Amino acid sequence: MFGKKKPTPQIDKDQLELIENAQKRIKQKKRLYAHFVIFLIGAIFLIIANTVLGIGKDFKLFGIDWFVFGILFWLFLFIYHLLNVFVTQKFMGKAWEKEQLDKLVAKQQNRVDKLKAGLVKEETLIAQTEVDSAATSDTQMANTKSLKSELTVIVAAAENDAIGKGNKLIWHLSDDLKRFKSLTSGHHIIMGRKTFESFPKPLPNRTHVVITRQADYSAPQGVILVNSLEDAIDVAKNDSRAFIIGGGQIYKQAMSLVDKIELTRVHHDFEADTFFPKIDTTIWKETSNVFHKKDEGHDYEFSFLTYERK
Ligand SMILES: NC(=O)c1ccc[n+]([C@@H]2O[C@H](COP(=O)([O-])OP(=O)(O)OC[C@H]3O[C@@H](n4cnc5c(N)ncnc54)[C@H](OP(=O)(O)O)[C@@H]3O)[C@@H](O)[C@H]2O)c1
Repeated sequence: MFGKKKPTPQIDKDQLELIENAQKRIKQKKRLYAHFVIFLIGAIFLIIANTVLGIGKDFKLFGIDWFVFGILFWLFLFIYHLLNVFVTQKFMGKAWEKEQLDKLVAKQQNRVDKLKAGLVKEETLIAQTEVDSAATSDTQMANTKSLKSELTVIVAAAENDAIGKGNKLIWHLSDDLKRFKSLTSGHHIIMGRKTFESFPKPLPNRTHVVITRQADYSAPQGVILVNSLEDAIDVAKNDSRAFIIGGGQIYKQAMSLVDKIELTRVHHDFEADTFFPKIDTTIWKETSNVFHKKDEGHDYEFSFLTYERK
């Protein structure tokens, strides 16, 4: 159960056979070489034994010393061995070796080509997947962007941040009202119940979303009633540019949720009961500032300012 796992061969049967044959061939040649060395030593030994040590000195065949026959016999065996290696097993000669080697190289090349082809296929697949996922995320980003609704606070505030008194606006600036109309027309305008009640009637060409805690509050047809600021924003989520138009309570709650502030800064201090929250310049940066002088239609100097999140 816990024994060593048998190693799985990484080469196929044919390759194994080729390698085994090559090893066999090396062994054959080694053995032949060893035979030759032993034969040389043996021959010298036979000569010494007969001529120096005098072994079988008197034994001769056809007047020739016996060691000559011994050496000739051994030579015959060696030649037989030699022929066996280089002639009988001719198919394992140099040409055969080359042929085998070529076969081996071709086989390896084939394997390399196959691996390369597999790798290219895999790379193509990965590249395709990356392209597809990039395209998908681009499309998703484009969709998100197109669906993203910009939420803007629109307000007119005095230098002391006053915005209203007795549920009424404190000043009359016709250009400010025109700007309000041109920016908000065609969009959702989100407001508190008190601001809604400060209008003589609903403003034309805008979708009114009125926030109230009163369950039985009734409003003219077309006015959407909600019980929280979050619900109001949700109602307007498909509007590319919805506006929070006041008053003081709603501005205070909405500041952390909006993307932009369109502020008409009236350059004067007023007595008021409702105020706009201080604009935190560490969060908001001024991106536009257009000054308007006092004239017959405008009792106060004022500036149109735009703030965007830093
Ligand atoms: N200068 C400007 O640009 C500007 C713009 C707009 C308004 N204003 C002025 O601002 C004054 C009105 O502001 P305001 O602060 O008194 O009132 P508001 O913000 O317009 O409305 C307050 C009312 O909204 C409802 N409300 C607020 N928070 C709510 C929440 N979280 N959930 C549910 N309902 C909520 C409540 O209605 P219920 O009491 O019905 O529950 C609350 O009484 C007026 O003087 C107006 O002229 C000035």
